[in-house]
Amino acid sequence: MTTSRRPSGRQFPADFLWGSATASYQIEGAAQEDGRLPSIWDTFARTPGKVLDGDTGDVAADHYHRVPEDVAIMRELNLQAYRLSVAWPRVQPTGSGEFNQAGLDFYSDLVDRLVAAGIKPVVTLYHWDLPQPLEDEGGWANRRTAELFADYARKVAEVLGDRVHLWTTLNEPWCSAFLGYGSGVHAPGVTDDEKALRAVHHLNLAHGLAARAIKDVLGPDTPISITLNLHVTRAATDAPADLEAKRRIDTIANEVFLGPIIDGAYPQEVFADTAAISDWSFVQDGDLELIRVPLEVLGVNYYATGMVKHGTPAGGDGTPGPDGHRSSEHSPWVGATQVEWLPLPGPHTAMGWNIEPEGLVELLVGLHERFPGLPLAITENGAAFYDTVSEDGRVHDTERVAYLHDHIDAVGEARDKGADVRGYFVWSLMDNFEWSYGFDRRFGIVRVDYDTLERTVKDSGRWYAELVRTRTIPP
Ligand code: NOJ
Repeated sequence: MTTSRRPSGRQFPADFLWGSATASYQIEGAAQEDGRLPSIWDTFARTPGKVLDGDTGDVAADHYHRVPEDVAIMRELNLQAYRLSVAWPRVQPTGSGEFNQAGLDFYSDLVDRLVAAGIKPVVTLYHWDLPQPLEDEGGWANRRTAELFADYARKVAEVLGDRVHLWTTLNEPWCSAFLGYGSGVHAPGVTDDEKALRAVHHLNLAHGLAARAIKDVLGPDTPISITLNLHVTRAATDAPADLEAKRRIDTIANEVFLGPIIDGAYPQEVFADTAAISDWSFVQDGDLELIRVPLEVLGVNYYATGMVKHGTPAGGDGTPGPDGHRSSEHSPWVGATQVEWLPLPGPHTAMGWNIEPEGLVELLVGLHERFPGLPLAITENGAAFYDTVSEDGRVHDTERVAYLHDHIDAVGEARDKGADVRGYFVWSLMDNFEWSYGFDRRFGIVRVDYDTLERTVKDSGRWYAELVRTRTIPP
């Protein structure tokens, strides 16, 4: 570890919100039930070679059939909030036209149960499961997808209404655009840099249109957020070429979202950096006004940092990038064509990602300085480790406890330095389908036995429950 954090005793105020997060395709299962139709992830997971061991989300953690049990576990963990995502193909199976009452009822019931349990629902509208028929029409490279997303958002807002504590439009649009349409390691598996840039813009537009639709239904003060996986990248040296490599990543991974969403403009550099790929003529008059909507809070997902230097993208060496995806999986990618990712010293998690809580302090303080007055929330943070069940029937995941301890401490430090961080959500409530890694990587603070679907609260879950109860990181 690049830092020796441990002993803490740091306290958090009573209004700091503690939660945990999941996503529909990763936990629900019931992929073909009650009218749900395939999403791009159903299709992708069935494409040989795309997901480790050929895993799919068909059953996943079977959450669809276990809501009462899972909400009871959330209570046991003292969660004050739960970040879930709605599966678009469950509530509007083809992505346009008719809605599916059974799908809407599922989320309505879940939200009711959360509210009854005193747990605040934080609802993400898009966590990567695009209805397949929309992909057949071009997916996020097609502007119409953004418009249809707003129709879907409107309907979900009508149904769930003010029971929702906070609305999140999109989860990690960087992944949707660049992993989905650039490197192709995520669904829909397209490798076309121009389409990746189109996807960026259409996702930004989808955010703005959906936020407006929700506010239109529920009122102008309805709390809206978006969750970004902002890259914390360091240049290997102070040489201008290496600093330029870092600048390119900051632009294409961070500013391309922060700029339009918060400032109302794309960074000029992105046009120069990507001039060989696109002239950005898909940005239409008026789009930037639509994209910028006041945010209640900016959602930040943080896992690891990255190191870059000037060079050519490494091909297939497995070096983890800052977003936590292997460089072989996201290189070459748009705008980063003169960037080489360098391996970072350990320790690493089971994803191969370096453990560096200081990066979280840096990110939060940097955001605070850049956007003073903008509240922040950690909408995901956590770690995969190869946990085992001990003879005593428990999961002694001490490495995860250490990771959470040090990262939550980092959040406290960032708060002390002025960052207005309002909440923290552990990724993840339970072990789940980790995208292209299938069920091999476990992020849960609750273990899922994929044979029996039995849940076991891990030591990290017990530790977190105590932290939430006392609002204090144990020393
Ligand atoms: C980010 C994503 O939002 C989530 O779906 C994923 O499982 C975690 N990071 C871990 O990779």
